[in-house]
Amino acid sequence: MAHRVIIRNEKVLHILDNPHHLAAYAADVWVEFASRTIKQKGRFTVALSGGKTPFELYALLSRRTDVRFWTSTHIFLVDERYVPRTHQESNYHLLKETLLRHPAIPARNFHHINTEKKDIKESATEYEDGLREFFSLKKNEFPGFDLILLGLGEDGHTASLFPAEEVPGEHTRAVVAVERKGKLSSRVTLTLPVINNASGILFLVTGKHKAPIIKRIMSEPECTLPACLVKPVHGELAFLLDKDAASELSDPGATIYDKPLPWM
Ligand code: 6PG
Repeated sequence: MAHRVIIRNEKVLHILDNPHHLAAYAADVWVEFASRTIKQKGRFTVALSGGKTPFELYALLSRRTDVRFWTSTHIFLVDERYVPRTHQESNYHLLKETLLRHPAIPARNFHHINTEKKDIKESATEYEDGLREFFSLKKNEFPGFDLILLGLGEDGHTASLFPAEEVPGEHTRAVVAVERKGKLSSRVTLTLPVINNASGILFLVTGKHKAPIIKRIMSEPECTLPACLVKPVHGELAFLLDKDAASELSDPGATIYDKPLPWM
């Protein structure tokens, strides 16, 4: 499978031929990351995004037999739409239909966001309290996930951090409610300080419709879109793109490798 790595404005981009190759490579990164982390720390914590892009990765992981150590793997959500668990838009539902079908994943290792509270803010507080307890955090500390998987919206949003809203600027809370009116579902999301505190952050982006926003993120030096504010404090960040999502990038000034590099 063709795999190019481009380093552009200090951003590492892995470009795969198509979404299937991208899902397979992301699964390899997961396996390597989880195995290494569990050897070192005894457990692996990962926060997963919803949306359409990661569907194939989650389905693939649920079938791969080389992904082991499930009892030491803790799966959290990056964000959740405030809809019932059985709703098509629910990220809980997405994971139940894919990754969580893996017979070896203990139910207690999946940490969902409760969408049955009367007030969405209570749901955000409950999720944050759960994270504080799980990670044994002191006041002012943020959870340190081993890996966070993010998607990218055509408007530059990531997680449920949307451009021109207040939430991307949140710097004290680990989890917040994003209340929205009309057809759009309200959401509960991890905040930037949590995302940026992860050891590994991986964006998964596919399709021609994402090419313009990828071009913008990679070339605007003063970009303030939420996705541009993802800048790990001590960890590593990489973008996994398919050829279509990378189709508007030009290469001048970039360092190009024609084979995969070790991710970290
Ligand atoms: C969600 C995500 C959101 C998503 C992007 C990309 O649950 O919706 O957190 O940030 O990753 O909107 O979505 P697609 O993968 O569907 O393009």
